[in-house]
Amino acid sequence: MSDNALIQSARAQLASARSIAVLTGAGISADSGVPTFRGADGLWRNYRAEDLATPEAFERDPRLVWEWYNWRREILATKQPNPAHDTIVKLEQQWGDRMWLITQNVDGLHRAAGSQRLSEIHGNIWTVRCTGCGVISGNREIPLPILPTCRLCHALLRPHIVWFGESLWEEDLRRCDQAIRSCDLLLVVGTSGVVYPAAGFASMAKEAGALVIEINLESTPQSDLVDLSLQGRAKDLVPLLL
Ligand code: OAD
Repeated sequence: MSDNALIQSARAQLASARSIAVLTGAGISADSGVPTFRGADGLWRNYRAEDLATPEAFERDPRLVWEWYNWRREILATKQPNPAHDTIVKLEQQWGDRMWLITQNVDGLHRAAGSQRLSEIHGNIWTVRCTGCGVISGNREIPLPILPTCRLCHALLRPHIVWFGESLWEEDLRRCDQAIRSCDLLLVVGTSGVVYPAAGFASMAKEAGALVIEINLESTPQSDLVDLSLQGRAKDLVPLLL
């Protein structure tokens, strides 16, 4: 099929879907200038995200981990949602409670665009959690002190992010499971499809009978199992679906 025919087919499938779910990854924010995790732009000094985004790394060297998050917060504070984020807001407006967005991104750009029906399954970089009393609070201070502490109990704060080796929040897992199993179309945008549980959502949706459409710059481990795979930039392709 030509690119145009693929897009027409994706539009038609979406238009006839009763209930939809959208799964996004770093690729959707790449078009807003946010570095992705894997690939040439994904590097920070000589570290990989997997070596910093762990409870062990934070225990070993909280200063280094906070330095990394402060660096990312500084970058993210300058970024705006792009037309792909905006289109997903329109999907929410049109499908209402028959639409759910699942994002692996912690950048907050979906919320900034106006999405409300979403699970930020890896957390949000603008939220911190106390390692002592567990209180979770919003925080947009830039930069945070290199070792920020809780106003209430003075224990060390940590980013409210789900790190490698940690479990997703129960409520998020429940919402995602419900959205994936009940949708009749899943749109997967800009994820390399290698980090679980999100990496399993496309096959879960297929098993439950949904049609799966993928949008990515390149092919991924999921491309063979999806029904339609559209290659290109999220900011160009996602708006064409509506
Ligand atoms: P990755 O960095 O692994 O993958 C980004 C994907 O986006 C790749 O498949 C790219 O081909 C694609 N891509 C890049 N630019 C794009 C564009 N303009 N339009 C469309 N696609 C584009 O990011 P994720 O899959 O989101 O976890 O990574 C999953 C998780 O691993 C992240 O949430 C993070 C990371 O470590 C935590 O922080 C816990």
